[in-house]
Amino acid sequence: MKEVNIIKALTFIEPGPVVLVTTFNEQKQNVMTISWTMPTDWEGGIALTTGPWNYSFQALMKTKECVIAIPPADILEKVIQIGDISGEKTDKFSLFNLTPLPAKTVQAPLIQECMACLECKMTDYIEKYGIFIFKTTRVLINESCLDKKMIHAIGDGTFIIDGEKKDCRSLMADKLPPDL
Ligand SMILES: Cc1cc2nc3c(=O)[nH]c(=O)nc-3n(C[C@H](O)[C@H](O)[C@H](O)COP(=O)(O)O)c2cc1C
Repeated sequence: MKEVNIIKALTFIEPGPVVLVTTFNEQKQNVMTISWTMPTDWEGGIALTTGPWNYSFQALMKTKECVIAIPPADILEKVIQIGDISGEKTDKFSLFNLTPLPAKTVQAPLIQECMACLECKMTDYIEKYGIFIFKTTRVLINESCLDKKMIHAIGDGTFIIDGEKKDCRSLMADKLPPDL
């Protein structure tokens, strides 16, 4: 995977894709599916919502770090199954044939099969709403699957796969930071 500027993190979260969130706690890696995310700033700030009914929750609370990975649409079924089983007694990486790769700034693993991986450190937790706030510390892209499509959850068990992309950068030029 190739490291790119932190500012690129926004371009993977702003479209609102379903993501995979990896953690590493007590010598154990885990992965869960999350669709409730949003960017919080231009510099890799990301919010996501989860709670103590998930096994990943205690890892997030304890280690205060994770990797947010963007899965391509061709592994949609796996992404759903990862979000339908607890990692407490199962190694989901091996069950779903995902390849963990070492990250640099966090202990949680990258996922080779994903389009991009964002190494993230937790900066805040809003208990009332189950909202975690992260700061992206490193962005990796998988150049071999960047042309693949992201997955978007409707919320009722149906999904939309990315459609046509239009370039309107000239209309937004005064709103876009350099390098984005
Ligand atoms: C499409 C999809 C989206 C999901 N989005 C979220 C989410 O935004 N927040 C959340 O807490 N759980 C979400 N889940 C459920 C978790 O992924 C699920 O409870 C998972 O089994 C947790 O794994 P763990 O117990 O190993 O942490 C989603 C599941 C699916 C299939």
